[in-house]
Amino acid sequence: MKLGLNLSFAIKRCIESERLATLVAEDLDTKYVQFTWDLVDPGWPAQTRDALAKDYAKAFKSAGVTVESTFGGLASYTYSHILAPSPELRALGRDHLKNAIDMTAAMEVPAAGMPFGSFSADDALNPARREEIYKEALEIYVGLSRHAKERGLSMLLVEPVPLATEFPSTAADALRLMQDLDGQTDVPVRLCVDWGHAMFEPLFGTDANMDHWAEVVGPWMAVYHIQQTDGHYDRHWNFTHDGLVTPELLRNYWDRYGLTDQTYFLEIIFAFEERDEIVLEDMKAALKLLRAG
Ligand SMILES: [Fe+2]
Ligand SMILES: [Fe+2]
Repeated sequence: MKLGLNLSFAIKRCIESERLATLVAEDLDTKYVQFTWDLVDPGWPAQTRDALAKDYAKAFKSAGVTVESTFGGLASYTYSHILAPSPELRALGRDHLKNAIDMTAAMEVPAAGMPFGSFSADDALNPARREEIYKEALEIYVGLSRHAKERGLSMLLVEPVPLATEFPSTAADALRLMQDLDGQTDVPVRLCVDWGHAMFEPLFGTDANMDHWAEVVGPWMAVYHIQQTDGHYDRHWNFTHDGLVTPELLRNYWDRYGLTDQTYFLEIIFAFEERDEIVLEDMKAALKLLRAG
């Protein structure tokens, strides 16, 4: 199986580009990364933002590491984006992804992604409002796909999330989004499915397993986030922690569905107060477990 690192483990810790690239390539012996927008905020002034982003891209290239995609992280996830209640907020959501596409292009990375968006609590309970906002969001997203193509990207990614107030959350939601966008967008849109989201039992019940996702949206899944979870919350624990996801399960899924290039990116989120040396040792230990699995 092809393992990669979402760089979320490094935020607020290993920030210097060359230091981070060396840590990934040498300490963690990893060749594929997904660059998190928590390292460079797409909303920063474009000139400074692109210079910083290019510096990371250059450092990874020199270290022999491929940045396969860039992705929204904790900061981006805070906001409702294109499913927000007001046109002003939805326009800001559009600008957010547009800026991220520009930053991704500056890095010469082919794909960018994030969750689609979140409804307000009131809108989420109102089917007519959900549908009205969703239709607008589809139009916004089709426009963003045009921008992605113009800037040289070849794919956009959407990550389903384990909240009924967001979209898509279920595999059926994700299928609807993929089918609604199919043929409308200027670059292909595919799913980045997070194992810890898919296995969230309070929302998905007996469907809280990856086989269900493979059955419903198998061909649409281009990338995975992997993390350890107990199925009760979206934990983003590391694989040194006991839980539902084992190296054997990951390997078995990879083999059974004949995956080839759909990188498993570890998306591990440490407590901010965790000590840096523990984070590094924990990442090394987890990769060792996964590689042995
Ligand atoms: Fe994720
Ligand atoms: Fe998550």
